[in-house]
Amino acid sequence: MSMRAIRWLVPLFMTSILCGQQSAGGPPQPANWTAAEDHQNMMDQLGIKALRPGPSGTETAPNHANYDETTANPFPILPDALKLKNGKRVTIAAMWWNQRRPEIVEDFEREVLGRVPKNVPKVTWTVTNTVTAMVGSRAVVGKQLVGHVDNSSYPAINVDIQMTLVTPADATGPVPVMMMFGGGGLPGVAPANGKGNGKNRPPPAAGADPPATQQLIADGWGYASINPGSIQADNGAGLTKGIIGLVNKSKPRKPDDWGSLRAWAWGAARGLDYLETDKAVDAKRVGIEGVSRYGKAALVTMAFDTRFAVVLVGSSGEGGAKLHRRNWGEAVENLTGTGEYHWMAGNFLKYGASEATFGSKNAGDLPVDAHELIALCAPRLTFISYGVPEEGDAKWLDHQGSYMAAVAAGPVFRLLGAKDLGTSDDYNKEKMPAVNVSMLDGQLAWRQHDGGHTDGPNWKYFIPWADKFLKRP
Ligand code: GCU
Repeated sequence: MSMRAIRWLVPLFMTSILCGQQSAGGPPQPANWTAAEDHQNMMDQLGIKALRPGPSGTETAPNHANYDETTANPFPILPDALKLKNGKRVTIAAMWWNQRRPEIVEDFEREVLGRVPKNVPKVTWTVTNTVTAMVGSRAVVGKQLVGHVDNSSYPAINVDIQMTLVTPADATGPVPVMMMFGGGGLPGVAPANGKGNGKNRPPPAAGADPPATQQLIADGWGYASINPGSIQADNGAGLTKGIIGLVNKSKPRKPDDWGSLRAWAWGAARGLDYLETDKAVDAKRVGIEGVSRYGKAALVTMAFDTRFAVVLVGSSGEGGAKLHRRNWGEAVENLTGTGEYHWMAGNFLKYGASEATFGSKNAGDLPVDAHELIALCAPRLTFISYGVPEEGDAKWLDHQGSYMAAVAAGPVFRLLGAKDLGTSDDYNKEKMPAVNVSMLDGQLAWRQHDGGHTDGPNWKYFIPWADKFLKRP
């Protein structure tokens, strides 16, 4: 037998012993393997022998990431968001919706984020608890919700999506709602783990903004908190479990199967399905928010589900609003490592491969880049938020690279009748504005606040901006 044949047979053998293990007398049990084993399986499926190591986030390390702007743009030409694969320019909105957008979606699904399978089972939502409480000085109604995924096809994996919904009690009609990725409990209710509830949290420091939840309620919004871990684990070992594992009956992913970012976005979309049925909610004005890895997830949610009206993308960095093609801070080679690859489609590993049967690829070979993920949100309200490195929003995130992506997404917003950042389209020349300078005149918006790795300080700018464009009284 040739070496090549052995290489292909070993993963198949591993797969059969690791998956669908039969417990004595019971139903098959989900596979228990480590992130390293799952990662290796995907490399084997793709014929990848070696991946380039990612740069270090520690600036004193010898292999630290690049922070030299003169070498930050090794691939200065981005894929053209408004050019069809056949070379034709996209000049009218219909060409975007019918031709170019589907091309970009397909590239993201196949190579970057993975596809949501066609046969994901149905989710049934139940209200398990309703409370009244105060948020700030306003009375609210809080609902604890559970979205149970039909697991009759593979009972060994149970997925119960946890979400809370909080709306002002005195609302005279349906209210807009910001859905946030997080584990927020009900106001005034101690969580079962006894770790304290919102009430026990120290009050914000003098002069600090009230929490986002309080600002939203005060402005007449509601908020929902959806727990990403209840949809899909945040690690590679979890890929044979959660919603991804349930659909695959605990078999490993195929190279174009969804990763955790897409799974979290799918869960948020199911949360929106519920909100569409709740009379307290104005389902045409539902937004999605997240920070860091959940900032990436918020952007992915908005990009793929056009029912979401607005997004607040907090400090999302590589895999989020930051250009993969930039050589600054976190890189494609970090996303392809065992700690982060689960966010992405398996196929994404190809772009970090140094040795593979198909040769080696890099960021410059990606068919799409972050500006096109932002463009998929157009013309809906898209607010890209960052903080500053001095306060902990690390250089690693590449603020400038995200700004360039937002600039490069601009032409798509304009084509669809929305306003972009109002800059030139020359993304290589545009420098991000100074800290605390708002660019909030359009449906595409940018603001770098002077705080850390949070979107907290930007909420007071986000809410009036969203109100204005959502035409709230
Ligand atoms: C790491 C990772 C980022 C991620 C962040 C987080 O810094 O490199 O990509 O966004 O963790 O989510 O906390």
